[in-house]
Amino acid sequence: MEIAFLDDEAAIDRSYALMARLRPRLSRGDYLAAVSRLMAAHGYRLVGLHDDGLRALAGIRIGEWLHTGRYLEVEDLVTAETDRSRGYGRALLGWIAGYARQQDCRQLRLVSGVQRVDAHRFYQREGMAWEAKYFSMDLA
Ligand SMILES: CC(C)(COP(=O)(O)OP(=O)(O)OC[C@H]1O[C@@H](n2cnc3c(N)ncnc32)[C@H](O)[C@@H]1OP(=O)(O)O)[C@@H](O)C(=O)NCCC(=O)NCCS
Repeated sequence: MEIAFLDDEAAIDRSYALMARLRPRLSRGDYLAAVSRLMAAHGYRLVGLHDDGLRALAGIRIGEWLHTGRYLEVEDLVTAETDRSRGYGRALLGWIAGYARQQDCRQLRLVSGVQRVDAHRFYQREGMAWEAKYFSMDLA
């Protein structure tokens, strides 16, 4: 098992199939354009777990809040349906937490849709606390 950033275009392109399981409405073209834009403007990075192929994938970025300092946000995390419950999600989240510590982050965060109850069970099992409500308003 190997966990590493996916920084080059070919690796990012290959990650589309897995990301599309989590973000099915994103076309390949929109995905590649968005990743490139987010990497350049917001420090977004993809991290992949390989085990005889890409098994789990996450998008992360580091931010800073006025009152709590630096944090790492996990924005997209997915393991293919056929590969779940083999510890890939745990290994990837653990690697990301280690990276966040190295980067002087004080917290790991993520926003997860209220409907993703299975994923919430996973996050709580991994030691994450539910500590805020996230409000949004559609502006379109
Ligand atoms: C959440 C997720 C990344 C966990 O990945 P994983 O590789 O299965 O993680 P692990 O093997 O380390 O842990 C498995 C645990 O995740 C939880 N889990 C969450 N959703 C699950 C699912 N659909 N199938 C199986 N386990 C799931 C279970 O508690 C499971 O524990 P168990 O194996 O004892 O039953 C993965 O289930 C997933 O991609 N889910 C769909 C996408 C998603 O909701 N992502 C989060 C967006 S916020």
